[in-house]
Amino acid sequence: MSGQRESIHGQWSSRGAFILAATGSAVGLGNIWKFPYITGENGGGAFVLVYLACIAIIGVPIMMAEIMLGRRGRQSPINTMHTLAIEAGHSTNWQYLGWLGVAAGFLILSYYSVIAGWAVAYVVRAASGTFTNASVEVVKNVFIQLVSDPEKLIAWHSLFMLMTMFVVARGVQGGLEKAVRLMMPALFVILVLLVGYSMQNGAFAKAVDFLFKPDFHALFYHLDGHGKEYFSWNGVLIAMGHAFFTLSLGMGAIMVYGSYLPNGTSIAQTTFVIALADTVVALLAGLAIFPIVFANNLEPDSGPGLIFNTLPFAFGHMEGGTLFGVLFFILLTFAAWTSSISLVEPAVAWLVENIGISRVRAAVITGLGCWAAGLVTIFSFNVWSDIKPLSGIKIFKDKTIFDLLDYLTANIMLPLGGLLIAIFAVWIMSREASMEELDMGNRFGYKLWRFLVRYITPVAVMIVFLNVLGIISLK
Ligand code: TRP
Repeated sequence: MSGQRESIHGQWSSRGAFILAATGSAVGLGNIWKFPYITGENGGGAFVLVYLACIAIIGVPIMMAEIMLGRRGRQSPINTMHTLAIEAGHSTNWQYLGWLGVAAGFLILSYYSVIAGWAVAYVVRAASGTFTNASVEVVKNVFIQLVSDPEKLIAWHSLFMLMTMFVVARGVQGGLEKAVRLMMPALFVILVLLVGYSMQNGAFAKAVDFLFKPDFHALFYHLDGHGKEYFSWNGVLIAMGHAFFTLSLGMGAIMVYGSYLPNGTSIAQTTFVIALADTVVALLAGLAIFPIVFANNLEPDSGPGLIFNTLPFAFGHMEGGTLFGVLFFILLTFAAWTSSISLVEPAVAWLVENIGISRVRAAVITGLGCWAAGLVTIFSFNVWSDIKPLSGIKIFKDKTIFDLLDYLTANIMLPLGGLLIAIFAVWIMSREASMEELDMGNRFGYKLWRFLVRYITPVAVMIVFLNVLGIISLK
């Protein structure tokens, strides 16, 4: 059955190429920029523990489901869902799951590109020696100067969006595959080096405590506007949302990458490699950043600027720091680049399939749309920084428009998409179809996967949602 369909967009050249591309999609700003700052905002260890649990029991099974659905449908997520729903004898309304994904990808890319633009900007700042022997104050100031200037932000955002669309237009294998092969290991080496620096010069023990000693009070209790503590599952939702975000799940990015996967490749093994690589990079980033935070009395909950206020300080005080700083931000740019292309691939594949326009055109159209939407994020950091649209709701009281956009996409749209993907994979699609496509060889593995996706994953996602909404409240 599965061997019958072929993707009109081509295929990965090998299993290794798929692993690289999917790891490229997973490892990005989510690991190095977002993971540390949301860990800092949500109290550390308990948050990390919930995040790791979500990767294992929700992320890994859903990633397998997404790859499986993609490879079986061999089209953009919208059309894949349509085809597979018909195959299973169910309503074609399942295609709207594909639309939800396209919308999420579009919104995420709109702000992802702005933040990636910061990384590109920092290549130049590091190269010009701005950080050499700089104090924490100087480093902080460089960041403030950048984000308070909309014109600068627009310039870097435009550059990054152009880079993304250039690769998307050329097709997925067009060059980036090779770049990833070099860049990912290099990024890993620099991160290890940074961890080494932080071990010697930072408050390493304190950072390890912060990251790995679970303090559930810090995860569940927050301060309201009057300095009073209140209980909320919001931190748990953020940890779960981040598990989806960091593995690129819940919107069809991994599904569309799976649609280019050759038959006969083990989906379980590849998923394991991707999830492990992604997790290691995030933890290394945490171990590099927090020792510097604690050694210099920086605030762990200082938000999206966290890595830009800490790492440059380390580079400024390190032997060969200028070189490493430049390299680091180049690699961060690449990590973001290999992720951003996967955010629009579902939309681009759909435009090519259904409207019949060329890849180049499809890339230009989506790129322009995302670029324009990105202005909202840019202004959230300067001219609109005082606008807190939902300040009446406790958990949203300090959130800017950018914060809310991030919350809506990562913590609501992705888990919702993932929940529906899970339901489709095990309740709608036939057992024979998923068993054949996953082809796990051992029955136990398949049974475990099916059990997780059938019961654990949907129930876990629902419990978290219902608790945050206050419909149930487990204390
Ligand atoms: N996983 C990437 C990161 O951590 C971001 C990303 C790429 C993504 N594709 C995605 C997030 C699809 C959600 C859905 O930086």
